[in-house]
Amino acid sequence: MIIIHSVEKLNGYLTEIRKEGKTVGFAPTMGALHQGHVSLITAAKKQCDIVVCSIFVNPTQFNDLSDLEKYPRTIDADCVILRSAGCDILFAPEVSEIYTAHELELKQQHMEDKSWTMGKTVDFGLLDKVMEGAHRPGHFNGVAQVVSKLFRIVQPVKAFFGQKDFQQLSVIRSMVKQLDLPIEIIACPIVRETDGLAMSSRNRRLSAEERDEVKLIYQTLSIVKENYQLATIADLKKLVEVAFKLSALIKLDYFEIVDSETLQPIAAFDTSRSAVACIAVQLQTVRLIDNVIMY
Ligand code: PAJ
Repeated sequence: MIIIHSVEKLNGYLTEIRKEGKTVGFAPTMGALHQGHVSLITAAKKQCDIVVCSIFVNPTQFNDLSDLEKYPRTIDADCVILRSAGCDILFAPEVSEIYTAHELELKQQHMEDKSWTMGKTVDFGLLDKVMEGAHRPGHFNGVAQVVSKLFRIVQPVKAFFGQKDFQQLSVIRSMVKQLDLPIEIIACPIVRETDGLAMSSRNRRLSAEERDEVKLIYQTLSIVKENYQLATIADLKKLVEVAFKLSALIKLDYFEIVDSETLQPIAAFDTSRSAVACIAVQLQTVRLIDNVIMY
């Protein structure tokens, strides 16, 4: 695996690869890699000749400076994982390779301003008004900004994203469509721990007690999925709220059952359109999200 830090060097390298007629697959990440990330590399390897993974903790998608500072950075362990997963190129740029000083200054000035968003290039309509978009204003704007920059640099034929971040996938798909980018977005299923907890870079920040209690997230989602034909959406929402009220360590941020395409909450089940149950919870210092596709 080749490790590249500069855009210029990566450009030179990928130009040669394209000249040889090879296809490039891309998996963008923020590092602190786990088997969820590995599944993206594995899928990319199956479908493309050369796999590029990026590790870049993107400052513009964090709402909270302390979350950005505390985000785990484990580059040496990440390299070991990527090598054994068969990744060909790791692109690990410095912040200054991706953003101008002016772009960063703007973000810094507005870190506390919940309504501020980084210069918009695309309009997500209602997609980013709900769930993570409503709880983390400007977050998807920052995600789209960095992913569009990375897409321009890597120019993959296919890009691989996890369903763990279901709303992020929808936003990226919408961005690709609006910017008319010649990139196919491939969704990869959620990889879970043996007790069902969705793998996440943030899991390593949980205390032992919290780690034990967060099993409740997937347990609850599974109950919702198993019982949707027996209950109304209002009943299921109540059930989830009660389950988390009883938890001393976990606070429910939201639980929504939404249309898989529009991401708008649905009022009743209609199996002619796919629906997904999405959840976000807050622990003392860690926020986790998860989802299950209902049907
Ligand atoms: P990060 O949280 O590092 O995730 C990188 C990719 O890995 C995303 O597509 C995410 O959905 C996927 N992923 C994470 N956990 C997963 C799991 N348990 N199973 C399957 N896939 C999983 O998402 C980001 O970084 C950033 O927002 C990024 C897109 C890189 C832009 O900065």
